[in-house]
Amino acid sequence: MTDKGKILAVDDTPASLRLLTDILKEEGYEVRSAISGELALHAATSNPPELVLLDIRMPEMDGYEVCRRLKAQATTRDVPVIFVSAVSETDVKVQGFEIGAVDFVTKPYQRDELLARVRTHLELNRLRNHLEDLVEERTVELRESEKKLRTSLLDSITALAAAVEMRDPYTAGHQRRVAQLAVAIATEMQLPEEQVEGIYLAGVVHDVGKIQVPAEILSKPGKLSELEFTLIKEHSQNGYEILKTIDFPWPIAQIVAQHHERLDGSGYPQALRGDQILLDAKILAVADVVESMVSHRPYRPGLGLDAALTEIEHNKGKLFDPLVVEACIKLFREQGFNLSN
Ligand SMILES: [Fe+2]
Repeated sequence: MTDKGKILAVDDTPASLRLLTDILKEEGYEVRSAISGELALHAATSNPPELVLLDIRMPEMDGYEVCRRLKAQATTRDVPVIFVSAVSETDVKVQGFEIGAVDFVTKPYQRDELLARVRTHLELNRLRNHLEDLVEERTVELRESEKKLRTSLLDSITALAAAVEMRDPYTAGHQRRVAQLAVAIATEMQLPEEQVEGIYLAGVVHDVGKIQVPAEILSKPGKLSELEFTLIKEHSQNGYEILKTIDFPWPIAQIVAQHHERLDGSGYPQALRGDQILLDAKILAVADVVESMVSHRPYRPGLGLDAALTEIEHNKGKLFDPLVVEACIKLFREQGFNLSN
């Protein structure tokens, strides 16, 4: 049988039902018939048709009730229902439409009119289903390609970070640990997930500008000369230059540029103050200081977590954003946060 459409015809009068199914079958439709509301529901539920032609006046369960129940279950909700009835009052029709019918055919009907309506609604419904499938397909495709993009973005960033750390073995893992702490602080501060993601990426590459600092200076034990320190300080600006041309969905380059800025304007490179500094950078600053103090450096051993937390607490509101400091201290003191290796 050609796939013209599966129709369920429902009428409690055998002669009417017979007439209806004969017309439809002649036209090439696959027709099942039901002589009562109960049987109609059973047939529609076990094998949903593409269209239901439904009589209204039936004993026990009338057409309205059948329609209501079809619209109430997921498998048959979208099946179009056309009422076929001798009742022609407007309010009866209106009620049918309110329940969810798509059309109304008044008995006695013209064969051609009936077929025209059946054809139209079958076609409409097929188009609608096709559209739904397309949208679904596209949504899945989009989600997958976005996931791939994110993954390759993270891969590239991680490669960039590894390139810097290769030249500076003393700070290997520093950027990752800072990124993890910054994410924990941002999450504690209940920042949106999207923003937290940006903070993570900025954290992972925040010292990328050190790639332009001579390796001997980076790993020099002992005190740095003023010139050497000036060279190191250039790394935030250098990082900005390296990252600014990449079109991230977050202001990564700016965050990196500002991670040594301090609330009171005593930071570098631009001596920004308060609100001039991005919150993301303020978070990174605190995470950077804490991680650096806890870790061993070529010129000194690790200073310990207590010293690091005392340092940020002491400078809360002066160098560091108070809310960021509070979130960071809460993480370590109350939530048992650990800087991993
Ligand atoms: Fe830095």
